[in-house]
Amino acid sequence: MIVDTSATSETPTESTAPDPTSGPAFSVKPLRIGPLVVDPPILQAPMAGFTNYAYRSIVREFGGTGLQATEMISAEGFVRLTGGLKSTVERLWGVKDEARPLAVQMWDNDPELLAECGKKLAFEYGVSVVDLNFGCPVRKISEKSHSGSYLLRDPQRVGAIVSRVVQACAPVPVTAKIRLGCTHDCITAKSIARVIEDSGAAALTVHGRVAADFFKGSADWDKIAELKSVLKTIPLIGNGDIDTPEKVVAAFKNYGVDGVMIARAALGKPWLFKQAAAALRGEAPVPEPTPLEQRDILLRHQVMVVKRFGEERGNVLMRRYACCYAQGRRGARDFRYAISKCDTSEHFITIVNEKFPMEHAEKVDWN
Ligand SMILES: Cc1cc2nc3c(=O)[nH]c(=O)nc-3n(C[C@H](O)[C@H](O)[C@H](O)COP(=O)(O)O)c2cc1C
Repeated sequence: MIVDTSATSETPTESTAPDPTSGPAFSVKPLRIGPLVVDPPILQAPMAGFTNYAYRSIVREFGGTGLQATEMISAEGFVRLTGGLKSTVERLWGVKDEARPLAVQMWDNDPELLAECGKKLAFEYGVSVVDLNFGCPVRKISEKSHSGSYLLRDPQRVGAIVSRVVQACAPVPVTAKIRLGCTHDCITAKSIARVIEDSGAAALTVHGRVAADFFKGSADWDKIAELKSVLKTIPLIGNGDIDTPEKVVAAFKNYGVDGVMIARAALGKPWLFKQAAAALRGEAPVPEPTPLEQRDILLRHQVMVVKRFGEERGNVLMRRYACCYAQGRRGARDFRYAISKCDTSEHFITIVNEKFPMEHAEKVDWN
C-alpha cells in the first residue's frame, strides 16, 4: 500500500501531506529513459480500451505528464495480418501525428515478431518509446497466448525478447512493464528486473501486485521499492493505487522510485497529472475543474470519440468514460444507469446535460 509523506502512516491521509505552499520538500531528479527526458516524471499508464487518442488529447491539454502511453497492441495483429488487424489499427488511432513523447506498448511472446513490430513502431510511426508488456493477467493473453504476465515465470524468454527488441529498435528506447510475479508463491520481480536491465531495456515499470490479484488488495510499494537496489543503471517507475497528488509525492519520497505511473484514477480525472506535477514542484494545490467544466470536458471527449468510431459504436464506447467522470459523485448511480442505455449523440448529450452529477458525494453515493 502506498503511504503518504508521513513516515508512520499506513493509510494515505491528505492532512499529512507536505505544505504545498512551502516549496518543494525534496527534489526529484529528472527521469531519463534512454535519450528521452521525462519531465515531469509522472507517466500516464497504458490501458486497453481507454487510453485512446481522445483520452490522451484531453490529458495532454491539462499537462502534468512527462510520457503518455497508447493502448496495448498485439504484435501479431500488427505485423502478420495484411494491413493490420482492425482492432490494432484502431488502437493506433492518432499515433502517427500526435505530439510526442509517446510510448506504444505491445504484447506477444515471440522475440522476432515483437522485434518486427517494435521496428515498425520506432521507424514508421516514430514513437518515442517502445514498451513491452510482461504484466497483463487477462486469460486470453497470459494463459492462452503465453504472453503478458505468463512470461514472469520465464526470465530467459523475457531476456531473449528484450535483447532482440532493443536491437531492432535502437536508438529508440525500449522499456518493460511487469507485475511482481504470477502468484504470491511465485514472486519473480527481482530476477525479471535484473534480466530486463541486463538485456538493454531503458526503464522498468512495476505494478505492485501479482497477476493472480488482478486488481484485488493493495499494490505492495515495499516490494516495488526493493527493486531499486536490483537495478544498477536504469530507472524504476512505480505503479499501483496512486489516486491523489499527495500519493505521487509520497511515492517518490518514501519509496525512492524514479517515476510514477497512474492508470485508473486519471480516467475520470484527466487533470490529476497536472495536480500531481504541481504538488511535486511544491506549488499550491491545483483546484479541480468545476462540475460544469468537467461536464464540458466529457462532452468534448464524446465528440472526438464519435467522430472516429461513428454514432453507435462511439456512444457505446463513451458510456465507460462517462461513468468514470461521474464516479464518486452524488447521483452517479442514476447517471450510470441512464448513460448505459445510450447509443446516439442526441441521447448522450441530453443525459449528460440533465443528469451529470454536480455534487461530490461526501463518503458514499446515497442514490
Ligand atoms: C481497463 C484497464 C486496462 C488496462 N490495460 C493495460 C494495458 O494494456 N497494458 C498494461 O501494461 N497495463 C494495463 N492495465 C494496468 C494499468 O496500466 C496499471 O498497471 C494498473 O491499473 C495499476 O495502476 P492504477 O492503480 O494506477 O490503476 C490496465 C488496467 C485497466 C484498469
